[in-house]
Amino acid sequence: MTEPTGPSVVIIMPTYDERQNLESVAGRVRAALPAADLLIVDDNSPDGTGDIADKLAEADPHTHAMHRTEKAGLGRAYIAGFGWALDRGYDVVVEMDADGSHQPEHLPALVGALAGADLAIGSRWVPGGEVVNWPRSRQALSRGANAYARLMLGLGVRDATAGFRAYRASTLRKISLNRVQSAGYCFQIDLTVRVAAAGLTIVEVPITFVERTHGASKMSNTIIGEAFWRVARWGAARRVRQLRALLGGRRAR
Ligand code: GDD
Ligand code: MN
Repeated sequence: MTEPTGPSVVIIMPTYDERQNLESVAGRVRAALPAADLLIVDDNSPDGTGDIADKLAEADPHTHAMHRTEKAGLGRAYIAGFGWALDRGYDVVVEMDADGSHQPEHLPALVGALAGADLAIGSRWVPGGEVVNWPRSRQALSRGANAYARLMLGLGVRDATAGFRAYRASTLRKISLNRVQSAGYCFQIDLTVRVAAAGLTIVEVPITFVERTHGASKMSNTIIGEAFWRVARWGAARRVRQLRALLGGRRAR
């Protein structure tokens, strides 16, 4: 080989009813990082998104489609996608929404930030980050969830629920993915906690998050509820560890 090759990158994109969004986002992803691969993980979307994924995969050797039988949550879709990516030996694994909220044009900066980190988070809540067209209620939910997670878990991250992120494959291999139980969006907090607890480095890269113009968010009370009680339990376990360390002189995290 004469040309120097960079790390091999795969962008994983979970989809559920994204018929109106997938093709344009996929095209922008392929243009932003032409050497990277794209894996679409569809949960048997009733609107036919899976057929669009197949069509894109047929037309482009860099694009792949994974079909799952039912809507089982963002977290489970990512776990399946991560397994696929690690089996194939990619160096970098990216998480990204398919609805246009995450700008493919941020991908080079996000992946580039891994030069100095084990996890790069595309963050809305650091200086330079912003949110466009999100209703006040969603802004409040995101800020509230982050404040709650920081308080309970002592995380130094401003946007722990962010869904636009790049992992070194080595990071994913160190955080016991087989033990992840989070089914919904609290998967994002879960993995942030695991990366921090493993002593790995996290950087936040400012992004502009643009609310979708087509289709609907899959956020639900069930998803919020799962995040609430899981974070509460992780927080309680952390307090117990801290107390034990205090009493027994062992080191706390
Ligand atoms: N395969 C699969 N299965 N995909 C799903 C599922 C599921 O059960 N649920 C959602 N998705 C896909 C959507 O199709 C979309 O591509 C992406 O996951 C994000 O879903 P949205 O429903 O658009 O999320 P959001 O805009 O409300 O939430 C955003 O903010 C959250 C909180 O900060 C996202 O960035 C989330 O990742 C983030 O956690
Ligand atoms: Mn969205």
